[in-house]
Amino acid sequence: MTATRIDGKTFAAKVRGQVAEHVTRLKNDHAITPGLAVVLVGEDPASQVYVRSKGKMTVEVGMKSVEHKLDINTPEADLLALIDQLNTDPEIHGILVQLPLPKHLDEDLVINAIDPAKDVDGFHISNVGLLGTGQKSMVPCTPLGCLMMLRAHHGSISGMDAVVIGRSNIVGKPMAQLLLNDSATVTIAHSRTKDLADVVRRADIVIAAVGRPQMVPGDWIKPGATVIDVGINRLDAPEKGEGKTRLVGDVDFDSCAAVAGAITPVPGGVGPMTIACLLANTVTACCRANGLAEPVGLTA
Ligand code: GUN
Repeated sequence: MTATRIDGKTFAAKVRGQVAEHVTRLKNDHAITPGLAVVLVGEDPASQVYVRSKGKMTVEVGMKSVEHKLDINTPEADLLALIDQLNTDPEIHGILVQLPLPKHLDEDLVINAIDPAKDVDGFHISNVGLLGTGQKSMVPCTPLGCLMMLRAHHGSISGMDAVVIGRSNIVGKPMAQLLLNDSATVTIAHSRTKDLADVVRRADIVIAAVGRPQMVPGDWIKPGATVIDVGINRLDAPEKGEGKTRLVGDVDFDSCAAVAGAITPVPGGVGPMTIACLLANTVTACCRANGLAEPVGLTA
């Protein structure tokens, strides 16, 4: 391996430390405690793990954490009524509805029912529009975490060639907007892209966000490029014992690390940054709601 390993775990701990400092200041100087509400509908095991982890870290940085766990058959009207109640609750500054939602619920309708100022996921159509026009918005957590790591590693990414592989609303599209707002030259590649290998080979920055295990091999990477791996894929790992699994990203780590200048590992790369950025967004939302200066370095 020749690449610098970008340690998301350490970076995320640093971001959480900065968030905790701001929370202390808000409490001591303004008697305000930032509050985050997480809504989980149903019992999807992966979602339950995420929600538990979010709740624990929210409390660790000194914020108020509220969890609403709803039955899988909850009618849409009940979920919308809960969102209304959270929208008007002065102790709640951030609202996150865990996705995916059960099939009978209209995801777009539910997300757009959240007050955009409390939309710490940055999924509300108003925030999407604000980000797309380079205005102050709430920014989706995973792309924000990737941007923070890129800025920390490079200082400025202005003028760099960036390729985002994947066009999801949660990662690919907002990631491309953030890179563009930082003056990178951005290409969005996807499943219909022709000559993907050649497109990726031109990139100084590669963001892989497709959800396909180890699909980017080292010979697609320009020597010295920075590789950010957003993928979290679970593979069987019989070598670790029967029924065991291991996590891999969307890039083939070993072959890419041999060529890249810097690379994020999986696990321990982008993953920990997502929750850290959720906490950062909650503090930002709290400051904005109270007309206070927002934290420096924790927003896009
Ligand atoms: N499910 C998986 N990732 C996310 C996320 O970032 N936000 C929400 N709300 N749900 C998710």
